[in-house]
Amino acid sequence: MTVAVGLASPISVDKDLAGVWTPAIGFNQARRRIKALTQRYVTVEHLGDRLADLPHQFRHPQPRRWNSVNWAAISPAQVNGIALDTFCAILLGTINTEAPIRGYTQASRQYLEHFYPQMAEFVGGTVDTAGVIRPGLWEREEKRHTPVLTMLYHRLSGERPHPVPHSARPYTPRENPRTDLYRHGLHRIATEYGAACLYLWMMAYTTGPLQAALGELLIDEINHMTKFWGFGRWAYPNSGLGMMVGTLTHAMVKKWRQPQLQGSLIHTLRRMTAELAWEQWSLSHRLTFLYAFDQVMRVLWQWERSLTPAYLTELFGPHPAHG
Ligand SMILES: [Fe+2]
Ligand SMILES: [Fe+2]
Repeated sequence: MTVAVGLASPISVDKDLAGVWTPAIGFNQARRRIKALTQRYVTVEHLGDRLADLPHQFRHPQPRRWNSVNWAAISPAQVNGIALDTFCAILLGTINTEAPIRGYTQASRQYLEHFYPQMAEFVGGTVDTAGVIRPGLWEREEKRHTPVLTMLYHRLSGERPHPVPHSARPYTPRENPRTDLYRHGLHRIATEYGAACLYLWMMAYTTGPLQAALGELLIDEINHMTKFWGFGRWAYPNSGLGMMVGTLTHAMVKKWRQPQLQGSLIHTLRRMTAELAWEQWSLSHRLTFLYAFDQVMRVLWQWERSLTPAYLTELFGPHPAHG
């Protein structure tokens, strides 16, 4: 972080991770900052690197080391362009959504273990009849998020958050285990993508150590999103856009017919918007949020073209036949 010298406030008109930090962040400036953040954190090269890292992590799982953050210097003055109480309400929503990570990882492990034991271990670790013996890398990295978000909330609001964590939807085998896994995988990719876009968007309205802390969360979410997406392309070589849209539509239609059914994407979307205090957002914030989703998705689609069958075989080996 650049430390300004002199009498001026150290965070005014300063360089930060999203470009230039000025006292009032409006619509256009937020858009520019989102674009700069995407160019900094979500490049085709970076996504390629994160996927190429996966086979290595299967063999030697090591959590990514975080860059240093000056935690003690985090303060409300590092939020701009959004009301502090709205920002804190969003933070509380992220705390509620990130937990309970153990529940999420174990459900994912169960969907995966029959078909892809290495990936099952990456997300859910090693288990025996008594439970988890060694947590997976995904869990070890995600586990860092809730305490950090709790600390940010405390620093900004002066109060301890009162989280209301969800109960993770347990493993629910339905039709065909391959289809169940596909649907579950799409869901996981969507939540990692949503989390990445949200942290990126929050970085556009923050600076200094607060922004740097969110940056670490962002890097983790991009890493997981990329690994899940790329592995999914290898695991489902015939899944084109049509299959993806079909599965999503199926999940949504089911929800309309059975409104009590948990776990559909509509359910998740509704829960997320309620959780993130969407009703407190201004139109400008909603639009910049959608802009962040669009910016990140553009890079994902561009990167997706590099995931040729030959390349995926080189990374993960020939695809096992599963009938
Ligand atoms: Fe997370
Ligand atoms: Fe995540």
